[in-house]
Order: sequence, then C-alpha cells, then structure tokens
Amino acid sequence: MSTTPHTSPTPVTVIGLGAMGRALAGAFLGAGHPTTVWNRSPGKGEDLVARGAVRAATAEEAVRAGEVVVVCVVGYDASDAILAPLGDALQGRVLVNVTSDLPDRARAAAAWAAERSIAYLDGAVMVPTAVIGTPDALLFYAGSRESFDTYETTLRALGGRTTFVGEEPARAAVYDLSLLDFFYGSISGLIHAFAFAKAEGVQAADIAPYLDTIVGIMPPIASGSAAEIDAGSYPGTEANLGTMAASVDHILHASRARGLDVSQLEAIKKVADLAIARGHAKDDWASTYEALVKPA
Ligand SMILES: NC(=O)c1ccc[n+]([C@@H]2O[C@H](COP(=O)([O-])OP(=O)(O)OC[C@H]3O[C@@H](n4cnc5c(N)ncnc54)[C@H](OP(=O)(O)O)[C@@H]3O)[C@@H](O)[C@H]2O)c1
Repeated sequence: MSTTPHTSPTPVTVIGLGAMGRALAGAFLGAGHPTTVWNRSPGKGEDLVARGAVRAATAEEAVRAGEVVVVCVVGYDASDAILAPLGDALQGRVLVNVTSDLPDRARAAAAWAAERSIAYLDGAVMVPTAVIGTPDALLFYAGSRESFDTYETTLRALGGRTTFVGEEPARAAVYDLSLLDFFYGSISGLIHAFAFAKAEGVQAADIAPYLDTIVGIMPPIASGSAAEIDAGSYPGTEANLGTMAASVDHILHASRARGLDVSQLEAIKKVADLAIARGHAKDDWASTYEALVKPA
C-alpha cells in the first residue's frame, strides 16, 4: 500500500446494511465510488442497488471487490464472526470497522488484523444516518495512520468532520463512548425535566423552547471543565459546587414529592456530596471529577 493520497474513485465495500451501513454505502455512491455491499440477511439495500451498488453474494466476494472495506454491524461479536474466515481475502485491503463497541474489542480486532498483516482502521460514527455524507458528519478513526492518510479523501465522502484521533486502535472507541456518555446523561436529564414539568401540570412542549438557554451554556462549560480537569484545579469563580448541589437537592425533593423516579438525581447528589466532603464546596462543579475517579 502506498502512502500517496488516493484521489481517484476508490472501490469500496460496505458490510452490514442496517440503517447506518445503508447510509454509509449511499454516501460512497453519492461521491462516485464503485460500491459493493453485503448483508447477512437478504432484502436490504434495494435502493442502493438501484443507484448502482453491486450486491455481493458472499462476504468474501464483497471483501475482494473493495480496496477499502467498511464494516458496520451491531457489535464486534457480529463483525468478528463475519471477518474471522476472511483473513486471506482482506490481504492488501484496508479494513475499516466503524461498528460501535468497547475499546477492548477494538484493541482485539486490531490485534487480529495485525497478526494477519491487514491494514486496520477502527472508526466511530458520531452522527445519525441523515447527517452522513454532509459537511457536519463527525466520524473518528484510529489505528493505521498510513491507511488513513492514503484513504482520507475516500473516507471524507462519509462526513466532512472526518477526524484521525491516534494510532492506538481503541482511541476512536474511547472518543465514541465518551461522547455517548455525555449524550445519555444529558438526554436522561432532559426527559426527567419533562417528567417533572408534566408532574407539575406544565406540558413538555411549553418547556422545550427554553432549553436552548441550557444548551447554549454547555460549550463554554465543556471547554472550561476540560481545562480544569486536565489541570487538576477547579476554581469556582462563577458558581460553586456547594450552591449547585443545593439546587440539585431542590429538584430531587420537588420530584420526589410528585412521586417521580429520582435515582438519577440521587446519583448526581451522591457524587456532588462526596466531592463537597473532600473540600470542594467552593470549587467549580468540575471538581466532582475527583469523586468520580476515587469513589468512596
Ligand atoms: N443508526 C444510527 O443512527 C447510528 C449512529 C451512530 C453509530 N451507529 C452504529 O452503527 C452500527 C450499526 O448500527 P445500525 O443502526 O446500522 O444497526 P441496525 O440497523 O440494527 O443494523 C444492524 C446490522 O448488524 C447486522 N448484524 C446483526 N447481528 C449480526 C450477526 N450476528 N452477523 C452478521 N450481521 C449481523 C444486521 O444484519 P441483519 O440485517 O442480517 O440483521 C445489520 O446489518 C452500530 O454499532 C451503531 O452503534 C448507528
């Protein structure tokens, strides 16, 4: 494999035609790449075939048709099962597994590829299917820098925010789970906020227009908290943990009074209280990091 960036249309293969695999294959087709597809179950991707994709009869046939082989299935149990017999077929190709799973599964997949001298990139798709192929689509890649440099233009068909995060093969999975950790915590808080509003007789739709205020303060909180956590210093100049923990307590009690589930709020309060007990009452909320990494 050369390190010269690949600029002409690259024959690509997409294995897995679930919602995301179909979106990825569609973006490759849209960018003019000869695209071969394969899925375990028949009947998926008719629209892709109508647009010019070649449907391979077997996974091996699909792999042999592509210079870049993108795998997007439900998890690494599935991708491992598909790829296990394909070590020979993958020779000379770049395997790009964008299936989401645990960092250790990415490390194991990279080790499997390395034992067989297969160039390997482990990826993570950070946007919904509708955003794939647009300038806003964020996808992380880790592993073979040489492969990424060679096929960056090809991979960029999937998203404008195509980002290489390092040669440690699990790095994309770490970025993936870290962002999803933030997402699920946020969306759970959002739904609880609606539940609380409704329990007090206010429709969720009446609250929703004002949530942009909270969303809008998150970017500076993210960059500020990250800097504090990396520095290990949390000066609470704008707001302090002690006061904010009291606010959490108000939401908790008001919710409990309405018979709502408060387990998430109790967990938040527990971590905040532990940080306060360790002397962080006057520090920023980011100081709860100290309680997270050293739980009682
Ligand atoms: N959808 C999204 O918005 C989104 C966003 C970001 C990341 N992702 C990630 O993208 C990946 C795929 O998600 P998806 O939404 O496309 O899932 P999906 O629609 O549920 O499709 C699952 C895919 O996995 C295949 N599969 C499941 N078990 C298999 C097995 N044992 N052997 C072979 N193939 C198997 C399915 O094949 P069959 O058709 O034969 O069942 C199908 O192609 C996941 O890791 C997901 O986290 C998805």
